[in-house]
Amino acid sequence: MKVLHRIDELRAALAGGPRPAFVPTMGNLHEGHLALVRQARAHGVPVVASIFVNRLQFAPHEDFDRYPRTLPRDAELLEGAGCDIVFAPDEAEMYPVLQGFKVQPPAALADILEGHFRPGFFTGVCTVVMKLFQIVQPGIALFGKKDYQQCIVVRNMVEQFNMPIQVIGGETVRADGGLALSSRNGYLSDAERTEAVALSAELQRVAQAVRGGRRDFADIEAAALQALRQRGWQPDYVAVRRRADLAQPQAAGEPLVVVAAARLGSTRLIDNLEI
Ligand code: PAJ
Repeated sequence: MKVLHRIDELRAALAGGPRPAFVPTMGNLHEGHLALVRQARAHGVPVVASIFVNRLQFAPHEDFDRYPRTLPRDAELLEGAGCDIVFAPDEAEMYPVLQGFKVQPPAALADILEGHFRPGFFTGVCTVVMKLFQIVQPGIALFGKKDYQQCIVVRNMVEQFNMPIQVIGGETVRADGGLALSSRNGYLSDAERTEAVALSAELQRVAQAVRGGRRDFADIEAAALQALRQRGWQPDYVAVRRRADLAQPQAAGEPLVVVAAARLGSTRLIDNLEI
């Protein structure tokens, strides 16, 4: 496995070969990331993973500075998972000049839910993913369904820009008790780590209620928010939405997902469950 820091090195390494399968990450890797790499391997083309903590998608008050940077360990894990090339550029390589051109996703998709609570987040994500796609030129790109809205936003970007990339969503990898793996779980204290399973448990309850035929989504969501607050969480949203576009459910029979974001102490966690 090669660890490359420069765009020209990466292009040289990929030249003449098939379009790779690509797993973009911000590092501090866990089984969720590695599962995407293993899924990428199954396509029989070179696998590229990127590690880049993208300043553009962090608001000034967010955790850009303290986001864990663990490249040597990440590289070992990626090698074990069968990655061929790690692309780990520094900021000057990705953003040599102020990134004045940005990819702005449509408000209907990107200013709701995560985008409502993190203004500009999906512009930052789309801009870096567009750049990474131009650099890596993958035929396949893998994104985790853990970040459900991100997956949908990227898929829509690829479609609207006619990029010849198949976007594949990987299932969410969870720890015992149901907590979705996340680089940010490392911020949790022991007590918070124990409590953190309550988020996925609440999503299970919402999913059960909807599977049981309830359509009073506002009431179900309000009850879930209340339950989390009572346990000491500060929830941003719990919402039952259509899987396809995260809009409010309309007709019966539409595939649905329940998405949620909530803070436990100073750590903001997100999760979702397809219903
Ligand atoms: P990061 O949070 O490092 O996640 C990288 C990829 O791993 C994303 O596609 C994410 O959805 C996936 N992932 C994270 N936790 C997962 C889990 N428990 N199960 C399955 N997949 C999981 O998402 C980003 O980085 C950035 O926004 C990025 C796309 C790299 C752009 O900067």
